[in-house]
Parts: sequence; C-alpha cells; structure tokens
Amino acid sequence: MITKENFINKLFNKDVMSLDTYIMFRLKEKTEQLRPELIAKNRAPISLSMGAPTANPPQQLIDKLKTILDEGNGIHAYSVPKGEPYFRKACAERMKNRFGVELNPDTEIFSLIGSKEGIANLIRFMITPKEELTEKDIIMVPDPCYASYLQFIQCSGGYAFPVPLTEENHYMPDMEQVWQNLLNQGFNPDKVKALMINYPNNPLGASATREYVQSVIDFCKKHEILLISDAAYCDLYFADDEKPFSIFELEGAKDIGIEFYSLSKPYAITGWRLGWVCGNSDVIQRFGKGKSTIDNGIFKALQKACAEYINTEDAEKYIKQGNMDYKRKQAIMVKGFKELGWPIDEKTVPHTTFYLWLPIPKRYSSAFDFCADVLEKSGVVLVPGNAFGNHGEGYFRLSYVASDEQLKEVIDRFKSDGFYFS
Ligand SMILES: Cc1ncc(COP(=O)(O)O)c(C=O)c1O
Repeated sequence: MITKENFINKLFNKDVMSLDTYIMFRLKEKTEQLRPELIAKNRAPISLSMGAPTANPPQQLIDKLKTILDEGNGIHAYSVPKGEPYFRKACAERMKNRFGVELNPDTEIFSLIGSKEGIANLIRFMITPKEELTEKDIIMVPDPCYASYLQFIQCSGGYAFPVPLTEENHYMPDMEQVWQNLLNQGFNPDKVKALMINYPNNPLGASATREYVQSVIDFCKKHEILLISDAAYCDLYFADDEKPFSIFELEGAKDIGIEFYSLSKPYAITGWRLGWVCGNSDVIQRFGKGKSTIDNGIFKALQKACAEYINTEDAEKYIKQGNMDYKRKQAIMVKGFKELGWPIDEKTVPHTTFYLWLPIPKRYSSAFDFCADVLEKSGVVLVPGNAFGNHGEGYFRLSYVASDEQLKEVIDRFKSDGFYFS
C-alpha cells in the first residue's frame, strides 16, 4: 500500500519537495503560536519582519476604487494578462514622469499580479529544470537578497549563483570578478541566463551609483545575459538628490534589460497585487506568451483606480509624506539601537527603503538564535539575516513599518529585557 509520504513524493518534483514555507509566513505562524504567552507577560507581538507598510492607502485611491466598483462596462469580468490599455498607458506615463524614460505601452510593458508573481513566472519560463548541479541553468542573484528569488530559482530547478554584497565592496561587487569566481568554481558560463539586481536593496537598504549600474549593463551585454532589475523600492527615498533611478536612464539597458515595478510599497496596497514589468520588447513579448497560459490579469477595477491615480499630484504628495514618515521612524530606531550599544555609523545609514540591517550581538552564535530569543522574550519579530542568503548570517533585518509608539516600545523592551549589543 502506498504511504502518505510516498504519495506526496510521487506527486511533486524534488525541487518543490525541498522547499520550506516562505520565511515571512513561517515567522507569522510562529508568532501566532506564541501570541497568548507573549500577551500574558505584557509582550504582545510587534512585527518588524514583513516589508509591508501599515499606513492607510491614499484616500483618493480608495474613493476611486469605490466609484469604479459600481460601474457597469464589464468591470467585474476577466481582464487580460497583459493589462488593460489604460493601465499600461498609465505605467508608461509614470515611467516618463518619474524617470524621463520612454516606453511603448503596447510592446514594452506587461502588467503583473504583484511583482513577486512576475519574477517567479519569468524565472520559471527561463529555466529548464535539471537535477545535476553542473547541468542547471544559472541565475546570478545578490547575496543577501529578497528571499523569494532563491526559492523561485530552487523550485524551478535552476541554480542561484550568489553575487556577494558586502560592506567592503560597498554593495556594488565587481561583476567581472564574480564571473571569474563562477568559472573558477567549475560552472559552465553558457548556463548563465541572467543577472538580478535590486537597488534600492532589500534587505540592506543599499543603493548603487549610476556608474556602477552602467558597468553592470555593459557586463550583461558582453556576456549576453539578461539583466533583471527589481525596482520595488524605487519610490522609497529620503533625499531628492539621491532619487533612485531606472536602468533605462542609462545607455544600452533596453538591449538586454527588463525592470520590475510594484505599486505595493509606495501606496501601501500590498494586498491589491499590482505591478508591471517593462523594457526589452522581445523579452516582454515572450514572457507574455507564457503568462497568457497562466492567468487572466489583474481585477479591472484595481487597474482602473490605479491608472487614474498614480500620475496625480495627490500620488506624489502621498509618496513624499510616506518617505518623511519613514525617515522619522528610521531616526527613532537608529537612536534607540545606538543607545543599546549597536555600532551604527550615521554615514552608513540607508537613505532608501524602510529596512535596517544590523549585526547580531557577539554572544549569539547565529542570527536565528538571536531572533528567536528576541521573539520569545520581547515579542518583537525580526528576520534572521541568513534567510536572505549565506552572506546574511550574523545580521538581522528590521522593517520600521510599525507606528512610532510601537517602535519606541521595541527599544524600551530591548532595554528592559537585556538586549544590549555587548
Ligand atoms: C525586492 C522585492 N521585490 C519584489 C517584492 C514583491 O512585491 P509585490 O509582489 O508586492 O509587488 C518585494 C516584497 O517585499 C521585494 O522586497
């Protein structure tokens, strides 16, 4: 008789069988298990784990959606995977207004049910699954990186070759050096399909210079690999003179590059699931053929509300206000962690995103142990750095998306529960 385990093993491929639940959902489950016990000791959970803004979305956007929901015109019917023409046109307009970049909404823009979905499906379409490591298609990914990249590549049967982002290389590694390391480790360069970059970076909050990204574009052209830029945090910045830029502002990017955008973070609508991918039209068209077999696009009412909103003055104001709030929250956390003895050099504090990336105290042997101890004693949910790649060991990530009061409470709890750096 077939056992339960054999049955499941027979159904799913090895790569999917080796996956664990995504780290953020695992943390959520663990927090819920501990919730009653934490509440009993006056340590109700405060979540600084997920990169999900907790502010209210723009009221004008919500009002637009409410009105649109009552429209006839088939607003509740299937959309198309590519996105409604008004949505793609609004995305093109946004790219023009924000970056001065011209994109053809018919051939160079494709809608996504959140950028996570788009990146996952792109990777699946690119990789031919193989079991042998030397046979696997390779995607080069930052280390540390958004944890989902690693899982997408793993469950697609490919190999994520780490591109180390370190303090020493200022989070801008020399790609020719990385290429040489790949060759030295015996990997076949013909298997390399793409390089992913993510500036502003999750989890580091790091940015890159234009010169560096230009060198990355040139590198991808030279080695004939796709440049995948994830711009999910391009609207989260604290200084106008350090506004994140699009790869398409630089020379030759459209020849080999695509860029992913998300409406989740700038407008605090992570649950709405809207984004787009744009750039090289051949890549976008081929990606579109794959997508057309998978879904029927984003709910039209959401596309329409966002299309009518994202290029308005109110949208600009909303983003500006949000960034001022994040800057203030960052200052609360930086001050608090310095009081707790953390070695924070103000000059290296990120000017983008809502993340802080900090070392764990020396007395802990792993980031996991530190985060588990903080959760169990203080009810504060942090993410161990190694969840983002091997170079993340020894660090933790904190998202300062909670209210100012909660953030101050975190520092108070750290003080009274003895979580000093040394
Ligand atoms: C770097 C990065 N890319 C993409 C995403 C996915 O965003 P969404 O699917 O909400 O567009 C996230 C979410 O945290 C992220 O951190």
